[in-house]
Amino acid sequence: MSDAPPLQPQPVDAEMLLGFWYRALPSTAVRGRRLATAFLLGVPLVVGRDARGRSFALRDSCPHRGMPLSCGGFDGEALECSYHGWRFAASTGQCVEIPSLTADSTLEPGKIHAGSFPCEEADGFFWVYVPEPGRGRGPAELPPVPRLPLHSERYTRTHLAAEMPTSADHGIIGLMDPAHGPFVHQAWWWRSRHSIHEKQKQFEPIPYGFRMSAHTPSSNSAPYKLLRFYTDADAIATTIDFELPNLRTEQIRAGKYWFSSLTTVTPITRERCRIDVVAAWNLFRHVPFVLPVARFFGKRFIEQDRRTMELQAEGLRHKPSLMLIDDADRPAKWYFQLKQALVESRRTGQPFEHPIKEPVTLKWRS
Ligand code: FES
Ligand SMILES: [Fe+2]
Repeated sequence: MSDAPPLQPQPVDAEMLLGFWYRALPSTAVRGRRLATAFLLGVPLVVGRDARGRSFALRDSCPHRGMPLSCGGFDGEALECSYHGWRFAASTGQCVEIPSLTADSTLEPGKIHAGSFPCEEADGFFWVYVPEPGRGRGPAELPPVPRLPLHSERYTRTHLAAEMPTSADHGIIGLMDPAHGPFVHQAWWWRSRHSIHEKQKQFEPIPYGFRMSAHTPSSNSAPYKLLRFYTDADAIATTIDFELPNLRTEQIRAGKYWFSSLTTVTPITRERCRIDVVAAWNLFRHVPFVLPVARFFGKRFIEQDRRTMELQAEGLRHKPSLMLIDDADRPAKWYFQLKQALVESRRTGQPFEHPIKEPVTLKWRS
C-alpha cells in the first residue's frame, strides 16, 4: 500500500551478516592441486580440493607469522607454509608438522590451527560458510547450501559476474530495485524510458525474506519475450524470491520449459561487493548460438548495473543522506528491516520477528 509517509531518509548500515553460506569463487578457479584465493566478508581465503576431491577453505594466513598459505605448496593433503614449512591439514586447518621442533620439544603442533571454514561445491561455485564469532566452524547443524532450482535432467547453465565498488547493501537494493530498469537498461530492441507503465505486484513473506508472488511476467521483460515462442502468455508463471543474506532466486515456468537463476551479491569487504548470476534453462537447447547470444545480452545488462554502481560510489564518497520512497523502494526497506530483525533476534536470543506480516500489493511505474 502506498500510504506510508514517503521520503524518509534511511541509514545504510554496512554490517555484513555472519552465519551464512556465501559464494566464494567459481569451481573453475581451482584446477588439480592448485590453490586459489578469494576474499569474503573481509577475510582472505585460500581455497582448493584435496586428493579425494573434497573442497576446503582456510584463512589465507599462517598462524605462525601471517604468511599467506596460498604462497606455499599443497600435496593434496596438507598445505605447507613457504616461510618455515609448518604444515596444515587442508580439511581441518590443524597443524600436522613444525619442522624446526627437536625431539624433546613439548610444543604440540596439533593444538595449533589455521582458520578453517566449511566449504562445499554446488552449481559451479565454492560456497563457504562464514560463522558467527565465537562459534568456531559454525553450528553443528549447518543450513543447506543455497541451490539453483533445476526442473529437468538436461539444461544449459551459465555464470556472469561483476565486481562493484559499493557495499553489498547498495548492490542488493540495486538488485531488487524495480525503478531503474527503463533508465539503466535501455535498449532499442527491448524497452526505453517511453515504455514505462504502471505495474502492480503482489508480495508475500517467506522465511527470512519475501516473494514476488506467481505472476505473468512483465510484457517488456526479456524472458517473457523468449517464452512467448514456446507457449501462450497465460501459461507462464514467474516468482522472484529474496532471502537473507543476499539471495535472489527467479523462476519462470511454462509447462515443461523453465528458466531459473540464483543471483547473489557477496560482500568482499565493507566497500566492495561482487554480483554473481548463475542461470539455467531448458529452452533452445538445440538451437545454435543461444548460449553466446544470451551471454552477450546478459553481460551487457550486468555491465550497465556495474557501471551505475561505480558512478553511484563516486556520489556516495561524499556521504550524502539518502532516501527510500514508497512503493518503488519498499523492497529495499524490507531488506533493511529483515537484516535489522535478524541482528536483533541474534542479539536478544528471541525468535526472528518477520517485518512483513501479510501479503502486500506494491504499485510503481517502470
Ligand atoms: S609463517 Fe608460516 S611457518 Fe612461519
Ligand atoms: Fe539492474
